Amino acid sequence: MVAPGTGYEDIRDWLSEHCGMSFPEKKKELLEHRMAKVQERFGLATLDELAVELTVGGDVDLKLAVIHAASTNHTYFFRETQGLDFYRDKILTAQLPAGGLRVWSAAASSGDEAYSLAIMATQKFGPTAFSRVSILGTDISMPAISQAEQAIYGTSHLEHVPEELLERYFTPAGMGQYRIVPEVRRMCTFRRLNLKAAPYPFTKGFHVVFCRNILYYFDRKHQYQILEQLYEATEPGGWLLTSVTEVVRDLRTRWQPVSNAVYRRPL
Ligand SMILES: C[S@@+](CC[C@H](N)C(=O)[O-])C[C@H]1O[C@@H](n2cnc3c(N)ncnc32)[C@H](O)[C@@H]1O
Repeated sequence: MVAPGTGYEDIRDWLSEHCGMSFPEKKKELLEHRMAKVQERFGLATLDELAVELTVGGDVDLKLAVIHAASTNHTYFFRETQGLDFYRDKILTAQLPAGGLRVWSAAASSGDEAYSLAIMATQKFGPTAFSRVSILGTDISMPAISQAEQAIYGTSHLEHVPEELLERYFTPAGMGQYRIVPEVRRMCTFRRLNLKAAPYPFTKGFHVVFCRNILYYFDRKHQYQILEQLYEATEPGGWLLTSVTEVVRDLRTRWQPVSNAVYRRPL
């Protein structure tokens, strides 16, 4: 049973246990602010009431809404060029695996990263990119996955897209928005997946995993566990690309550092 006045603690603990997300005391106000939207939607006057519904009730929609509201989905096309340059210059230029390169955008949010990778593969391989590179985008947030599947974006997502790429790989979708062209869309598949819910449901390993701007959600224990799970899901010789601000080295995982924010599973 939930004790009165412990709404923040109960929701914090639930998010940590189920999603690995970390909301320490200094982020209490942020969590309360984000939960206010969920309270409004589900007609719950207090945080305590929300905590009861979350931890004792069985409403899946409410749980998904809490997860989505707690997440920071902010992302945009061609974010952090360092990892993308490595992908273009070192990974796409090497001999690709016989069955094609399997790429995983492991915290895909609205799909911007996955489509950026697909556009880069299309620039390199033209119409044959589809048979050479496939990209899976996963995220815990269902609204984010739905947006990725729709592939329609407003200007805040597109600021870093060069004009010629906007013309070549997007079509106007009205209201100042743009949609990814089918040629690029068909290279990408999106699924909901909680990175904390191991083991991951893949039958084939990935050759490249992008896991950027998500590790800081988790405490060190969960960061370690997720990095080890990503390792298991990667083919020997495969790559992990993180954000430059995320420190993997200290965690003593099996990933071998290659350069800043680039890691490799040994052959
Ligand atoms: C800031 S976005 C990062 C998007 C993209 N990778 C980038 O670098 O721009 C972080 C994403 O992680 C997702 N996320 C948070 N916890 C997760 C979990 N346990 N499993 C999978 N995705 C999660 C959020 O829903 C959010 O869309």
